[in-house]
Amino acid sequence: MKHIVETDETAFNRRSALEIAELIKQKADIRICFATGETTKGIYHELAELHRHEGLDFSQVTAFVLDEYEGASADNPASCLARLNDQLFDRVNIKKSNISAIASTSKDLHQISKEFEQHIGQAGGIDLMLLGIGTNGHIGFNEPGSPFHSTTRVVPIGEDTIHARAEMFGSREDVPKTGVTMGIKTIMNSRQIFLFAKGVNKAAMLEKALCGPITQDIPASVLQLHPALTVITDEEAASGL
Ligand code: GLP
Repeated sequence: MKHIVETDETAFNRRSALEIAELIKQKADIRICFATGETTKGIYHELAELHRHEGLDFSQVTAFVLDEYEGASADNPASCLARLNDQLFDRVNIKKSNISAIASTSKDLHQISKEFEQHIGQAGGIDLMLLGIGTNGHIGFNEPGSPFHSTTRVVPIGEDTIHARAEMFGSREDVPKTGVTMGIKTIMNSRQIFLFAKGVNKAAMLEKALCGPITQDIPASVLQLHPALTVITDEEAASGL
């Protein structure tokens, strides 16, 4: 595992974006899976700036969305896809046809989950997985207890996420109780993983996830087993390591 620590949020966002940009430059037709959240929001802003000011080319990038809320279409600004469009995809030259989102407004989310998983395989798998980490150790919508052999599936939305996204949806009651997420196995099948964490509120969980036992009670702990994991943090989030 490689660990990059930057002094503060600005340096963290900038370094994280530069690390992603380096891989985009190195590999034509790169397939990247994008997480959403406050941690990645600042990173995507920097990526968009690299495109605007330094011509970072996204025309050969294929994007996958890591997770999505049930019934949240791209028209809903709280949906994962809408936030990725707003924070990044609408600001760079990625082809819309190269964005693979989860059709979470479909009536049969189990079928959608199966098709999404098949689509990932048919595309050749994911080259770079961009992850944040929840304060309870979740990755994507894989909450504590998620089986390590899990693939893309329908899951309950955890309390952590409901609390964190209540404002975005309007209220706790408006946050969908169900979503679709890539599974732990799907994530671990990626060729390379970047795990991002910033802020003192992630320090305790990051220490448990990276230095503690590998357990399904802390989904992110499985990342210790990945052969190409890079953890990028600010000093606050790294204070427990
Ligand atoms: C959300 C997302 C995760 C994200 C995590 C942390 O529920 N499903 O993909 O990494 O919570 O979010 P944040 O970066 O806002 O702390």
